[in-house]
Amino acid sequence: MDAMAEALAAAAAVDESRLWARQMAMAEIGATAKGGVNRAALSDEDRRARALMVEWAGDLGFEVATDSIANLYVRRPGRQADAAPVVTGSHLDSQPRGGKFDGAYGVIGGFEALEAIAQAGIETVRPIDVVAWTNEEGGRFQPGAMGSAVFAGVMRLEDQLGLVDSEGVTLEDALAETLASTPGLPCRPLGHPFAAYVEAHIEQGPRLENEGLTIGAVTGIQGIYWFTVEVSGDEAHAGTTPLRARRDALKAAVAMVSALEELMADESDTVRFTVGRFECHPGSPATVPGHAFFTIDFRHPDPDLIARISAQIAPTCEAHARGCTVTVRPIMEIPPLVFDPTLIDMVEGYAASLGHPVMRMPSGAGHDAGHINHLCRSGMIFVPCERGVSHNEAENATPADLAAGARTLAACLVDLANQE
Ligand code: HGY
Ligand code: MN
Ligand code: MN
Repeated sequence: MDAMAEALAAAAAVDESRLWARQMAMAEIGATAKGGVNRAALSDEDRRARALMVEWAGDLGFEVATDSIANLYVRRPGRQADAAPVVTGSHLDSQPRGGKFDGAYGVIGGFEALEAIAQAGIETVRPIDVVAWTNEEGGRFQPGAMGSAVFAGVMRLEDQLGLVDSEGVTLEDALAETLASTPGLPCRPLGHPFAAYVEAHIEQGPRLENEGLTIGAVTGIQGIYWFTVEVSGDEAHAGTTPLRARRDALKAAVAMVSALEELMADESDTVRFTVGRFECHPGSPATVPGHAFFTIDFRHPDPDLIARISAQIAPTCEAHARGCTVTVRPIMEIPPLVFDPTLIDMVEGYAASLGHPVMRMPSGAGHDAGHINHLCRSGMIFVPCERGVSHNEAENATPADLAAGARTLAACLVDLANQE
């Protein structure tokens, strides 16, 4: 069989109902009343999701390994046991009220591709790994995409261990508990070489569905910058303290958010600006808030614009502090990136060969592939999701579209794993 025929044979072995059954089994872990999932990184639910992945790997005789930030790897060996693997995957953690496909599809679709390759009797030169990256969403411990960032050397694990969640649990303790839940696994070094990386994901936007297409050959990811803002004023009695004598941290924070909204104003509607967490303390009706905290998620595809506007965030907050003190901390800075052209061509080419209507498109959402792109040539495959809804329990996708993505992925993995 020539190389392309072998790649297409792997694609043909993808089983839509098996893939869907695994999606639904995974969706039971942390299931929410409205059909979504709540699987915070390094939580009990995350550990149960990992255990299910280990169980599936065991059923098929695939090797499992981990690393010091609990990224979880499943390997189908290649003819050259020591060759750098071709890697696919995504994440099993979710937003607090997240959907059942965001992330999980990339892991399960990768797993389906691995099983299809095995079933087609294909021996690749290189091993192929499916990885579940730790803490992609960043809902519990900020920032997100942590497992892939630490793996890629963008972030140091020791700088993250002291982070605490809203219950006061440290990342170090949650990580230790998670590593202990999969005892006996070999521990791989961070940053070990990959030959290539391809991640499958639902689009999380409406473009593919609106255009009636099945596959997105992802060209790159827009830049994502995260900040935290802490505002400190004075707690005071709500009945006795005149407005002019107050240092009200909440009102200052609200003024800052309004000013930032103006700073981000954009005729073209390209800027993405989100305050996803906003806290006020002590949180009592009769006490003037002495402390406020909020997060900023700012995204844009233009590297100059995102850097220029980011530099104005702290001065804008300071200008609206209303006598309070304000501390703005940048906690994540991922510049816009472009994927390797050979992988964009490969995804587009195999999707077309398999009869799946395809277009090139950038990603509005962030992904682990953004960090792994520093280490090896990387690319992504998008499939449609219903009305583009994501980070929402109503997130949905069809079995047929998920299978189309897994077929495209299987073909790319075989092709890449047979390259020197
Ligand atoms: O926030 C993101 O873009 C991703 O879903 N973690
Ligand atoms: Mn995701
Ligand atoms: Mn997400």
